[in-house]
Amino acid sequence: MKIRLISTAASVAALLGVLASPVVYSASHGGMVAEGKKIAFDRKLGNCIACHQIAGGTAPGNIGPPLVAMKARFPDKAKLRAQVWNSNAANPNSIMPPFGRHSILTEKQIDAVVEFVYSL
Ligand code: HEC
Repeated sequence: MKIRLISTAASVAALLGVLASPVVYSASHGGMVAEGKKIAFDRKLGNCIACHQIAGGTAPGNIGPPLVAMKARFPDKAKLRAQVWNSNAANPNSIMPPFGRHSILTEKQIDAVVEFVYSL
């Protein structure tokens, strides 16, 4: 009985160790790109497609520039994220919503969108 209790305690500790491991929580890169794509196309979330032409999207708007060759246009990924987080920094009169500053998307959602856009 005593031995069984000890082994149970050991497996609980092992399980907690697994749960506490950051690897369990971090999404794979491919997973983030897929999640970002959903957010960019979702009319109730990013709705980037309303203003930007994006490969794979239907009925895009043309208010903003097409999102293509993003790595060439934004060699610094942080600048791309800054644009999505607060479009008003680069252009105070931008009609692009400041997704981070206005808490339209969470920081995690913005990270995913940036990974997706950076893959275009
Ligand atoms: C209401 C329209 C609108 C929406 C929605 C919108 N944008 Fe924009 N976006 C623009 C406009 C217009 C520009 C051009 C720069 C400016 O006027 O600020 C722009 C610029 C950009 C740029 C810079 C492109 C470049 O080459 O300089 C990126 C990147 C971008 N948007 C990404 C996004 C992403 C990602 C989303 C969704 C999370 C999004 N936009 C949603 C209108 C929009």
